Amino acid sequence: MIDYPGYDHLIRTVYEHNQEHVFEYWDELSDADRGELLDDLSDIDFDLLRKLLSFKESIQDTNFDPAPCIPLPGTEREKSAYLAAGETGAAYVRKGKVAAFVVAGGQGSRLGYEGPKGMLRIGPASNRSLFQIHAEKILKYSRKYNTAVPFLIMTSRSNHYETARYFSENDFFGLSPEDVFIFPQNMIPSLDAEGKLVLETRKSVFKNPDGHGGSLHALHTSGVLAQLKNRGIETISYFQVDNPLVKIIDPAFIGFHVMAGADISSKAVKKAYLGEKVGVFVRFGGGSIGVVEYSDLPEGKLHDRDENGNLRFSSGNIAVHLFGREFVGRVASGAGIALPFHRARKKINALRGGTTAEIEGLKFEKFVFDALPLADKNIVLEVVREDEFAPVKNASGVDSIESAQKLMMDQHRKWLAGRGIRIPKKTRIIEISPLAAVEPDDINTDLVVPDEERVYIS
Ligand code: UD1
Repeated sequence: MIDYPGYDHLIRTVYEHNQEHVFEYWDELSDADRGELLDDLSDIDFDLLRKLLSFKESIQDTNFDPAPCIPLPGTEREKSAYLAAGETGAAYVRKGKVAAFVVAGGQGSRLGYEGPKGMLRIGPASNRSLFQIHAEKILKYSRKYNTAVPFLIMTSRSNHYETARYFSENDFFGLSPEDVFIFPQNMIPSLDAEGKLVLETRKSVFKNPDGHGGSLHALHTSGVLAQLKNRGIETISYFQVDNPLVKIIDPAFIGFHVMAGADISSKAVKKAYLGEKVGVFVRFGGGSIGVVEYSDLPEGKLHDRDENGNLRFSSGNIAVHLFGREFVGRVASGAGIALPFHRARKKINALRGGTTAEIEGLKFEKFVFDALPLADKNIVLEVVREDEFAPVKNASGVDSIESAQKLMMDQHRKWLAGRGIRIPKKTRIIEISPLAAVEPDDINTDLVVPDEERVYIS
């Protein structure tokens, strides 16, 4: 057994769990590097890893029906319910009770983009990044509602520093630094097919971010949740970094959530096509609401249609949720409820016998929507896809930068047309800054769009 002062217990644990191959390069490491390796091992929960290996992959309850949804306002009654919700929500935001929370710890591997996904330049005319668009929306909401909406940004080990530097070098895009909270999520080791830890370098093991479900825990351990409490925040508006159309502060959504006394509320859009890669909202046999991921939806249910020929499981998850702060506290502190891990196969680079090679590995992640069934009360609100959802997942084609830019421009054209503003024929590329408008009513009807090919309204 190797030995290093002060780490006896950890070293024994590593051997007890038959993971001592992580010391393969021990003899070649300096004392400082040995200390680093041990520190890297010290935050691993070895008992948890053993449990994760032994659980069966398919544990999901398959007894479920489509979840009930608040529909788009059609009838007079629905319209007035919307108006009332909008007023309640706006008053609540004005009182400073809502924080915005983006999860940006993912690795953007499908996109093939190396840096933090939030730094991806997406503005069709402005070339602004996803982060800048989100930050400017939040600044605009803060001005509109005469409050300071805190902006919480969850990163992970591989992109934390770059993200934090990006915000500080850009003066937080006009937000006050004390209103921006950037904190990393936890990492969890990936394992090889035999359940062994994998070395990434001679002094570190391979770890991946613990999934966006780790965000609830990260809010707690970073101390941000406690700070939110001190600021009087009651509701956290959660969204993904890759959706430039997201309505970060939506008074009607917030109003419905508050009036229902919900722990979690979620937005849904009608699935665009049968195989679309979005989870669907369901109601499990026991009555709780949840999301079943696209890859887990049984074939029969995927194809299931109602009497009108419409897909029965068609409420797609756009990963926009409102979380009660107290509820997050309960989940994050353990308090008898915790989110499960999901296991996925993935290629990882492993250092073995002096060379690095790609191996088949196991990756563990938590999904934030697994919190839904833990809530005493939750609601699902249907929204219009083109108004709120433009995911950037792939380098080209479906759900790409190009498709998202088109959706942004279509929306801005629609807003301008709705305000009676003429768009010159010559104008091919058009974009409205969030600082000018986060909804059509923010646009001044006197606005004149210049007769140019590329127009940015700021
Ligand atoms: C996700 C949802 C899916 C939903 C779709 C909508 C999952 C498993 N599925 O799919 O139900 O319909 O979005 O766009 O999430 N992230 C972290 N830390 C992590 C992992 C991810 O912060 O450890 C963040 C990413 O930065 C990103 C978001 O979570 O903002 C989504 O991750 P991604 O891997 O793109 O999820 P999808 O498979 O696209």
